Amino acid sequence: MRRLVAGTRLHPADLILPVFVKEGIADPQPVASMPGVVQHTRDSLRKAVHEAAEAGVGGVILFGIPLHKDARGSGADDPRGIVQLALADLASEVGDALVLMSDTCLDEYTDHGHCGLLTDAGEVDNDATLERYASAAVAQARAGSRMIAPSGMMDGQVAAIRRALDADGFADVPILAYSAKYASAFYGPFRDAAECAPQFGDRSAYQQDPGGPVGEALREVRLDLAEGADAVMVKPALPYLDILRQVRDLVEVPVAAYQVSGEYAMIEAAAANGWIDRERMIMESLVGIRRAGADMILTYWATEVARRLRA
Ligand code: PBG
Repeated sequence: MRRLVAGTRLHPADLILPVFVKEGIADPQPVASMPGVVQHTRDSLRKAVHEAAEAGVGGVILFGIPLHKDARGSGADDPRGIVQLALADLASEVGDALVLMSDTCLDEYTDHGHCGLLTDAGEVDNDATLERYASAAVAQARAGSRMIAPSGMMDGQVAAIRRALDADGFADVPILAYSAKYASAFYGPFRDAAECAPQFGDRSAYQQDPGGPVGEALREVRLDLAEGADAVMVKPALPYLDILRQVRDLVEVPVAAYQVSGEYAMIEAAAANGWIDRERMIMESLVGIRRAGADMILTYWATEVARRLRA
């Protein structure tokens, strides 16, 4: 009866698996603060993505960790950069079984760990960064990415990327914009996984303030749509379900929510202590995110949950 009258359903195809691929490692490396998550080699990534596709997961989003980082994040748009190589591997193998997506940002590639280029004074240079994002997006699309997801929160990033993709023959590659992205402590474990903690300062100059005006999130969403975004994202998920609902009510395009690393780590840590019912808590958190308005959910549990939903 509960199944018959359910108001909120999860489906494997609505789930997106975030994955990390690292250059220059021989074996997958566990991420201490995210039990069950690894930094992949190109080979182990292939296997993980095949498994996700087999489970019916709707998409994967790639994050790359280069061996060498520099001030301009050269690995981000290098055709031989780790994400580009990994995308090419996957594009030929999994094809249309799921949507190959790529996070477009500089923080994994810069030695200072910020999401943009810096001025001499050490401030993030918004406009100079746009060219780097555009170039990275084109490199990802050429390598086989079928959805570009800019996460750096620079003003004008969607427009710059759209223009560059169109000019390079990728008018059909859509943009999923991380539109309402908060400067969140919940990204802590991700910064271990992607080795991208800022070396000084924090991201509060470009990401949103958790207690800031709600209208700011809605305005960011509207601006991204006006610039050509095809879908928008709210991030993190659980502490921002109210924002998610308001975004859902505001727009016609698909809305994604990112259940981020800290949300994952909290449940895994409590479960490891035997304090909670891990599986129920995972499912309940995902149902809550869906009910708040997410059409798609990025979650590190995507493959596991997809399998459970199919069982
Ligand atoms: C930036 C980016 C971050 C996450 C996704 N893209 C980190 C940040 O903004 O500091 C965080 C995801 C997570 O915590 O799971 N490239």
